[in-house]
Parts: sequence; structure tokens; C-alpha cells
Amino acid sequence: MSSAKPQDTNYNYDIGGMRIKYKNKNETFTEDRLISKEPIGQFKAWFDEACNTPQIFEPNAMFLATATKDGIPSVRPVLLKGYGRDGFKFYTNYESRKGHELAQNPNVAAYLYWEPLRRGVRIEGKAEKTSAEDSDRYFQSRPYSSQIGSSASKQSSVIASRETLIVKERELLAQFPEGQVKRPDHWGGYIIIPHSIEFWQGQSDRLHDRIRFRRAKSNEKIDNVLIHKGDNEWVYERLSP
Ligand SMILES: Cc1cc2nc3c(=O)[nH]c(=O)nc-3n(C[C@H](O)[C@H](O)[C@H](O)COP(=O)(O)O)c2cc1C
Repeated sequence: MSSAKPQDTNYNYDIGGMRIKYKNKNETFTEDRLISKEPIGQFKAWFDEACNTPQIFEPNAMFLATATKDGIPSVRPVLLKGYGRDGFKFYTNYESRKGHELAQNPNVAAYLYWEPLRRGVRIEGKAEKTSAEDSDRYFQSRPYSSQIGSSASKQSSVIASRETLIVKERELLAQFPEGQVKRPDHWGGYIIIPHSIEFWQGQSDRLHDRIRFRRAKSNEKIDNVLIHKGDNEWVYERLSP
């Protein structure tokens, strides 16, 4: 690794030698180790394991990629707040950068990575706003400080200083006592309706396992060699690492 003097602004660090050995208690992830033949059941099995792994601080942290209508991408973490047959839910500000991008282009990709398990789940689909009732229910379940915080923040807008937020927060704390904060119209949930969900299991020999579920195309030939029939109109297939 090269070292630059503090005054040297021509930084160019070679970190090509950084690599670690994966120690895997999970062995290989072969098709017979699928807990479920549809991706939500499989997600639940891996998510539950991640939740029971003490080194994983926020198992529901999910990187979410959105894009403008011209396909310029952006990515940020959000917290996954629910999942099931309908899709994967998160909550945010509808007027944020991601909110504006989702209004132009509903296509999203999301990734959850559980490093101690060397596992990742990659989700692709379309995001839709959840109902006002759903957003209200979740908003009301949040701590008072989070309700005030999300009301105070015009997420992703440029502000002069931290003070701007503190002033707004104080104002809202005085105006709305605990239990009386209404969900702002610009804040709520999205649900990602997935069309593809890939399960990645890292291996120390770099022959990683990748099993992708996707919605079956109409009239698709399912040969059970390359393309396997899953449950609930999903098919699954192995991808080369
Ligand atoms: C672990 C983690 C979880 C986060 N969860 C959320 C979330 O659930 N909703 C949200 O709006 N922002 C969340 N954020 C903040 C976002 O990453 C981001 O800064 C914010 O949503 C603005 O993104 P945007 O400008 O791309 O819209 C989280 C950040 C971190 C580090």
C-alpha cells in the first residue's frame, strides 16, 4: 500500500491486496439446501438466521437503488420494515431524492448483505406506495422523537446548518405533544413487488453459490436442468459466480 503525506493531495491508494478468507459454517448452498421452493420462504429462513446472529447489528438494513427516468442511478440504505407474499416494505419521505426518482421510474433494486454469514439477497422489482392506512399505522408505531424528526426534515433538500433542523424540531415539539403527531402527507411507505430474488452464499474458494428465483414467463419451458419449477409461479436457476 502506498502512503501519502498529509499535504499530498494526489491520493492514489492501491488496496488490491485486501482480501479475507471466508470461514463458512454453512458449507455449500446446493439446491437440496433450499428451505423453500419460493423466495419469500427462503428469505424468511435466511433473515431469521441473520436476526439470530449477534454480530449482525441491523439485519434489516437494505441498500435500495432507484433511478431517474433517464436511468441515472442512486443508492442508499433504508430499513426493511415488512415482507411477505405482497413484497418488501420500507418507509421514507415521498419528496426525498428517492421519492422523486420513484415517481418518475418505479424500477428498483435492493440488496441485503449479512457479512458474518457471507450471505446476500438481491431483490429486483417495482415499487408502489403503500396505502395511507398502512403508512398511518406504521407512523403511529414509531417513537415520538422519530415522528417529530421525520416531520421536521425536508429529506434530501439543502439546508444552511444543523441549527435549521433543531429550530424546526423545537417548534414541532411545542406544537404537537406526544401522541398527537399526525403523519405528514409527504411521508409513507413503499412496497417493492419483486420479479427476481437472488440468494448468494459466499465460498472461500470464490466458487460462490447463487440461486435466483424469478417469475416464470408465459409458455416458458421448465426443463428442471437449468430452469427448475418453484412454488407459487416462481422458477429458480443457478447462476455462475
Ligand atoms: C442503516 C440505515 C438505515 C436507514 N433507513 C432509512 C429508512 O428506513 N428510511 C429513510 O428514509 N432513510 C433511511 N436512512 C437514511 C438514508 O440512507 C438516506 O440518507 C435518506 O433516506 C435520503 O436518501 P435520498 O436522498 O436518496 O432520498 C437510513 C440510513 C442508514 C445508514
